[in-house]
Amino acid sequence: MKVKNICCIGAGYVGGPTMSVIAQKCHEIKVTVVDINEERIAQWNDKNTDLLPIYEPGLAEVVEEARGRNLFFSTDVDGAIDEADMIFISVNTPTKTYGIGKGMAADLKYIELCARQIARVAKSDKIVVEKSTLPVRTAAALKSILHYTGNGVNFHILSNPEFLAEGTAIQDLLEGDRVLIGGERDTQESRDAMQALVDVYAHWMKPDQILTTNVWSSELSKLTANAFLAQRVSSINAMSELCEVTDADVSEVARAVGTDSRIGPKFLKASVGFGGSCFQKDILNLVYIAKSYGLKEVADYWEQVIIMNDHQKRRFARNIVQTLFNTVSGKKIAFLGWAFKKDTNDTRESAAIYVADDLLEEKAEIAVFDPKVKPHQMQTDLNFLNTRSQDENAEMLTATDNYYDACKDAHAIAVLTEWDEFKDYDWKKIYDNMRKPAFVFDGRNILNGEDLEKIGFIYRGIGK
Ligand code: NAD
Ligand code: UDX
Repeated sequence: MKVKNICCIGAGYVGGPTMSVIAQKCHEIKVTVVDINEERIAQWNDKNTDLLPIYEPGLAEVVEEARGRNLFFSTDVDGAIDEADMIFISVNTPTKTYGIGKGMAADLKYIELCARQIARVAKSDKIVVEKSTLPVRTAAALKSILHYTGNGVNFHILSNPEFLAEGTAIQDLLEGDRVLIGGERDTQESRDAMQALVDVYAHWMKPDQILTTNVWSSELSKLTANAFLAQRVSSINAMSELCEVTDADVSEVARAVGTDSRIGPKFLKASVGFGGSCFQKDILNLVYIAKSYGLKEVADYWEQVIIMNDHQKRRFARNIVQTLFNTVSGKKIAFLGWAFKKDTNDTRESAAIYVADDLLEEKAEIAVFDPKVKPHQMQTDLNFLNTRSQDENAEMLTATDNYYDACKDAHAIAVLTEWDEFKDYDWKKIYDNMRKPAFVFDGRNILNGEDLEKIGFIYRGIGK
């Protein structure tokens, strides 16, 4: 079974980059990425690749190479489903905001809509690939919908979770540690379907990097990987608070424990708290699944990762207030960074949103500079919390298009994202134009505290 036509439903942070790389590496396969969001598709088709909907290093070059050759972006979902022999579902699976499982379970309505649309449109056999992150056993629901509402054609369901991280998506896709494919292996047809997807990745991944498992292991491995990664961040962040009261230095502790090859050095950077669209959502989902099977201890264990992360964000804001003589009312605080990590324009669940919200409750005035995030996005993020009126948010938090204006006349600077360029700023010039005493709260430990203190700043890192 050779795949000639791929359709991907969902042109987001996963669908866009993943399909661009598949198209780049598999010239003989036509890849069509479809979405109901017309504006997003228009941006993917924009001649000026600076206007792609996603900022991701190296993405523009891949899109330029493949777009129009064998990579297409379209709003014609039915047409692309009809033409494809393999369909990736890469739509969003956010935390439910209503009903049973509100605030915990994954909202699968977009997944179900895709399944029903595939079933309605498909007139030939299709391989359906779960690319979105899904609760374990979702494939059973997909199978049922496809079977009962389809036109009598065969569907093979595979799980192929995506492990890319934003900011390094292209590198992760090209040189990832592994690809995971889960599927049934009971019939020749189902084995062929799995092999067809293996063959796609085999264009650039080594055979031993393509792992195959049963479908449930694959679905659960994705949630497990994100839970383990987030757990490391919460673990080092818990230690950061202990470091601050004992004069230990969390960076030194991380280096000391990370050199143990059983622990390893990665993902041990203390921070203002993890953000992003995945970690919190996926752990909450894991907690919900464990609870729904009656596994209270398992649920409580993983929930603690989120509790620690919320605490870390909150105590960063509290520390700013306390250090600024217990009041920030009417004081200007400059935020460097709004994205949830460097090298992305994504702000979903960014720690900056929650720190800003806490400081606005204390009546601070916040000026934000982020190299890639648009001002309206910052307001959208704040308004989503519903803490105060949109007018108040717009009045109290402003975005600037250069760092220098953000910091001018500020009482304090808070570093929320680890953008590299922040390290190279003219910190003496910034200091000269701030209110004194001038504070820096480095939520990412990226600045050289000693150098800043020589200039005159009062510097506070995380876990130092
Ligand atoms: P996203 O919100 O950026 O993109 C999803 C897209 O799907 C949106 O553009 C939306 O308009 C579209 N969509 C929704 N329903 C549709 C429908 N019925 N028909 C056509 N289009 C539809 O989301 P994302 O960040 O790309 O995440 C997608 C999935 O991948 C999620 O399950 C997420 O957990 C998972 N994931 C995300 C990342 C990441 O870094 N963002 C990494 C790994 C896995
Ligand atoms: C994550 C997973 O890494 C990826 O495999 C999965 O496919 C999607 O979820 P992502 O959320 O894009 O990727 O970025 P990641 O690099 O994991 O960072 C998540 C958050 O943790 C960011 O806010 C980051 O700043 C923070 N973080 C990460 C730390 O605070 N310290 C660290 O040591 C590492």
